[in-house]
Amino acid sequence: MPSILDLNRDDPFSPSPGELARLLAGEGPDDRLFAVARDTLLSTVGDGIYLRGLVETSNKCRKNCLYCGLRRDNSNVFRYDMSADEILAAMETGYASGLRSFLLQSGELPDRRHLDLVEEVLLRTAGSMPGTRMVLSMGELPEETLARLRTAGAHRYLLRIESSSSDLYSRFHPGDMLHNYAARVAVLRNLRSSGWQTGTGVLIGLPGQTRDHLAADLMFMKDLDIDMCGMGPYLPHGDTPMMDVPGDMPSPGERVLLTLRMIALARILMPTINIAATTALQTLDLRGLEMGLNAGANVVMPNLTPAGYRSEYNLYQGKVQVDDGLEEMLGTLRARCSTLDRKVMTGNAGDPVHYSLRCGGGVSR
Ligand code: 5AD
Ligand code: SF4
Repeated sequence: MPSILDLNRDDPFSPSPGELARLLAGEGPDDRLFAVARDTLLSTVGDGIYLRGLVETSNKCRKNCLYCGLRRDNSNVFRYDMSADEILAAMETGYASGLRSFLLQSGELPDRRHLDLVEEVLLRTAGSMPGTRMVLSMGELPEETLARLRTAGAHRYLLRIESSSSDLYSRFHPGDMLHNYAARVAVLRNLRSSGWQTGTGVLIGLPGQTRDHLAADLMFMKDLDIDMCGMGPYLPHGDTPMMDVPGDMPSPGERVLLTLRMIALARILMPTINIAATTALQTLDLRGLEMGLNAGANVVMPNLTPAGYRSEYNLYQGKVQVDDGLEEMLGTLRARCSTLDRKVMTGNAGDPVHYSLRCGGGVSR
């Protein structure tokens, strides 16, 4: 059987879960794994690094995921909602610096008021910031709501499956209907089939999570035929009940390595998708940005949330906080990326090549 690290292998090919698990254990060896991922990146999507301006629009959430600092039952959080004007002002700073894609992220808030707000932002963006691709990440929403947001101008949706194992999923979520694994998969499939550029991802290094679980996560994402992927290490938050979940957790160094191997394998298995170098990875290692990009990531998300709100958006503790202005932050990013021989792309919305290919070369609206 051809190895996944054999660049001359025929595509499409089906790696065995056993081989993925061995590579996740570092038996590649890692140098070779990362080199193959980089070659794959350069020969498919190129050396560009695409930017998404992140606006954390509200830290309210109706859910109670056991690992998350924003879970409903954490009363130590000052809850906020940004107004449409505040969200648009944050985006406009990014637009002026050449950003052409913005990610609106919040907890899961399917109420009328929140949806009206998001719709207003989308409609006003279409009028005032031409050429912009809007990305939403706001949890599981009903089909009609998603259709409405798409009509208002959103193109991309991110919904992490968190873990593709229903067993692990139920260990880290309450056992009620609000936290239902099958319902989450159904939303993802609906997104994928109704024309959204669809992204998902998983948490890496959860207590009790094995390399076989992670290998299955990669196969899940490949089978779903996603366009975008965002994966990060699990980072404990003291105000969550996660500490009570049994199972060993890998050390921070191991979680970084596992994340890098997951990025590299995702790049090799799904060459034309967009893959983010996540904030969680950068939080766990100061060189997480460079290492993530070197392992095959091609998306970075500068945080545009106003500082006062940003400090309240704590999914986990110790989130990297860059207080520089955006221009300064982009300057630093360009310098860091040029040491990797990679180019930061501005003035470009960075649609996933994978999506353009599945839509027959164009981007469908
Ligand atoms: N550590 C790392 N990532 C987390 N998320 C939530 N809590 C944590 C944590 N403790 C991630 C989830 C979610 C995304 C918005 O943040 O994967 O989908
Ligand atoms: Fe809410 Fe998302 Fe946190 Fe779950 S992970 S509690 S859905 S913000």
